[in-house]
Formats: sequence, C-alpha cells, structure tokens
Amino acid sequence: MTRVLVTRALPTGGLEPLVGDGHDVVQRAGDTPYTQAELTELVATVDAVVCLLTDRIDEPVLEAGAASHLRVVANVAVGYDNIDVDAARRLGVAVCNTPGVLDETTADAAFLLVLAASRLASEAERDLRRGAWSGWGINQYLGNDVHGATLGLVGYGRIGRAVARRASGFGMQVLHHTRHPTDMPGYVGSLDDLLAESDVLSIHVPLRDSTRHLIGARELALLRPHAVVVNTARGPVVDEEALADALHAGTVFAAGLDVYEDEPTVHPRLLSAPRTVLLPHIASASRATRTQMARVACQGVCDVLAGRRPENLVTA
Ligand code: GLV
Repeated sequence: MTRVLVTRALPTGGLEPLVGDGHDVVQRAGDTPYTQAELTELVATVDAVVCLLTDRIDEPVLEAGAASHLRVVANVAVGYDNIDVDAARRLGVAVCNTPGVLDETTADAAFLLVLAASRLASEAERDLRRGAWSGWGINQYLGNDVHGATLGLVGYGRIGRAVARRASGFGMQVLHHTRHPTDMPGYVGSLDDLLAESDVLSIHVPLRDSTRHLIGARELALLRPHAVVVNTARGPVVDEEALADALHAGTVFAAGLDVYEDEPTVHPRLLSAPRTVLLPHIASASRATRTQMARVACQGVCDVLAGRRPENLVTA
C-alpha cells in the first residue's frame, strides 16, 4: 500500500486524485505546519508528500525520505523556493508544483493591489473605520490614476501576462522586463530602464538566488516619486527595509504587498509606512483556485507513483 503524507487539511475535494487511486492518505488535521523534526520523522514512513509553501522541505528532510521510500514531493503552490530542489534531484526524489491553475486568481489580486495602492484605499478605509473621516473633501486621499498609467512588469510568465491583460482593459501602457528577451511588444531589455519608465511596478518573478533583493535601494531610487510598487511574487525579491525607507521618505508613492521576506512577520517599518496596502499572502486564495491547486498537486503524486511523468515536474 502506498502512503501519502498531506501536511495540512486541504480544501474539500482537493484529495480526490489520491483517494481515487486508492492511496493511503496520512493527513495532518488543521492548519499548523509540522516542525522540521516531525517532518523528518514522517517522510521516512511515506512514498509521497503533498506540502504547502510554509513547509520547509530541506536537505535533511529529503535525505530522511530518500533513505526510506520517498519518491515525490508535490508543492501546493507554483513557487517552490521552500523545497531544496537540487537536493531532491540528487536524491532521486521528484518535485512537482501547480503552475497554470492560479494565474488568473493571482493576477486578480495583483490588480487589486495596483488599484488599492494607487488610490490609497487602505488608508482611506482605515480612517473611516476609526471615525476619523469628517466628510467629503476635495483634497482628501488624492491618489494616482491607474487608467493611462504605465505598468512595468518584472517577469513575464503566465501570471505577469495575466496582469498585462487586465492592465490593457484599464487603458494602461504595459512594459515588461525579463532576463531573456521575449520578442513580445512592450519588452524592455534593461531593468533600470523599466524602473525609470514605470508608474506602477508589479513583480512576477520566482524567488531564486538571482532574484533575491532584485528590487533594492538602488532600484527603488530609479523609480519616479509617484511610482507604486506591487509584489505578489515572493517577499525576498524586494528589499523590504529599503522599500519601507522609500515609503517613509516619500521617494516611492505607494505600495501593495501580498508577500513578505520573513512570513508571517512583517517588517515593523512596513506596518507603519504610509500609503501601503498589506495583504496576508492571499493572492491565490479563491475557493475554486485553492481546490484546483490541491488537486493538481495530488495528481502529480498519483502520476509519479503510477510511473507516469507528471505534467508539472520541477526536477525534469
Ligand atoms: C503561492 O504563493 C504560490 O506560489 O502558489
């Protein structure tokens, strides 16, 4: 009997592929992650793991699994910076993720942040809720127009392109930068040029060594003072401290963030920064999308355990 560890309760229906294939599912109830010690012990008892981005699947965990009969780890996320993929490859453990199914939902959330940050929605709502709104005022909460603005996308994968589609509907001019030329309209070869031309900057690159602090103090200084920064990718792509400094100094107008460098901790100077919309990593959080993500991850496990090549193999 094949055993699959599922590290958290998943949305209803998410486990269907595993159940359908008759795997024995060992599932953690509730929403708290296992400790590293618990994970290390449990992986040695299973053939597969379905995990979340808050589980750290590091080398010791993978070694413990591979020394026993672990064959595949499937992340219920498109980003997989929580998994030591090099170690998995070396140990012959397959890694899968869930690209594709969350693009539109994540792009919706990125656009929510573009709009909310540009129009100072959080500040205005906060004042209203605490009884600090004295009535309509011609000089109140003066944000930036989104229509007609230039959107600079850092990264132009599925999610970046889904954001671009929304931006066109808002009459934005859309530019993008990627490491390798895309040959698509709006491509800007230099990140510095993209920064200088963007009214709104939205980040859509995975977290890798090469993208850690890709947007730091130097890059933020290249933005124009009315610029808005949006991050729905991974927190460490932006130097949070530098962004907080720029927001406090007013050298960046506003920010909309869904991800943080050290989740669930949020840098205190970001919490106190003006004109900042902060969401708790919910960009893919629609019921339908989270269910679909769980199913896709479970399907990846089923494929590997049945000897098929999964569609979303990271360790290819
Ligand atoms: C969410 O952050 C994901 O990577 O799917």
